[in-house]
Amino acid sequence: MLEEILKQGQALTDAALDRLIPRETQAPVSIHKAMRHSVFAGGKRLRPVLCMEAGRMIAGSLPSKIEELGAALEMLHTYSLIHDDLPALDNDDLRRGRPTCHKVFGEALAILAGDALQTQAYEVLARLACSPESRVRIIEEIARGTGTIDGMIGGQVVDLEAEHMRPNAEILEYIHRAKTSALITASLVSGGLYAGAKENEVASLRAFGRSVGLAFQIVDDVLDVTQTSEQLGKTAGKDTAAQKATYPALFGIDESIRKADSLVGAAFKELNSFGERAETLKALARYLVERKK
Ligand code: IPE
Ligand code: IPE
Ligand code: MG
Ligand code: MG
Ligand code: MG
Repeated sequence: MLEEILKQGQALTDAALDRLIPRETQAPVSIHKAMRHSVFAGGKRLRPVLCMEAGRMIAGSLPSKIEELGAALEMLHTYSLIHDDLPALDNDDLRRGRPTCHKVFGEALAILAGDALQTQAYEVLARLACSPESRVRIIEEIARGTGTIDGMIGGQVVDLEAEHMRPNAEILEYIHRAKTSALITASLVSGGLYAGAKENEVASLRAFGRSVGLAFQIVDDVLDVTQTSEQLGKTAGKDTAAQKATYPALFGIDESIRKADSLVGAAFKELNSFGERAETLKALARYLVERKK
């Protein structure tokens, strides 16, 4: 059941990405090759799947063309990964089982490929097939979630500034909420908005996303310690080597896993008012903490 949802969501997202990102033969070819190298390298497509399933829960069936919203979210996520891997940030060689964008295309093109995925995402968002009011709210929601105040970029800044320090639990939670949970929350909320969610439904999706998104990054930290690079498709053990502020570094592995589990338990309660319609999102949340990559 869940496997089917993931597979279908991934296929829908991939087809939309392929339609919406310029072909490799489109001039200037180097930038389009670099964008496609990182996008089509086998990401899990979790943000699009969460977005689409939020839309399905609100509307009762999958809203028409919602995969274009999912594709825009995946473009933004991939841009954040390309930049995260740059020598000036985490300096990583391996991503999604492939050499990182800057390893193949050089730093200048990798920076520009990240930028280009971001602008491409907003072009897609501007054309979404929902009401103009929802479209504007979706764009605002996603811009904030990836921005500097409690959003992805803000989290990345504090993540870098916290290297080599032993941060307290409060700063650590801020980093994780901002760099990762904010875009996951925006994915769920924007899927709901696309489907015409009412204000109380948007609030439930937001509360669910905040907890699930934090749990997701805690598990990312745990996997960095417990898995191999081959299993992850990215360099394992990087966080310890770079003295990153992580949950396992501060709390240990077992306590980190307990925290992630309890966040997901708390997140479930936020969807109680949706009854059985929330089953898929709950199953996805459980998968996020049980995943092995
Ligand atoms: C990795 O995200 C970066 C984080 C925010 C933890 P994912 O684990 O979703 O990576 P992909 O998209 O599957 O490659
Ligand atoms: C990255 O966190 C979060 C982003 C906003 C990209 P990490 O630096 O832990 O992600 P990975 O482990 O390299 O995928
Ligand atoms: Mg990082
Ligand atoms: Mg990294
Ligand atoms: Mg990580």
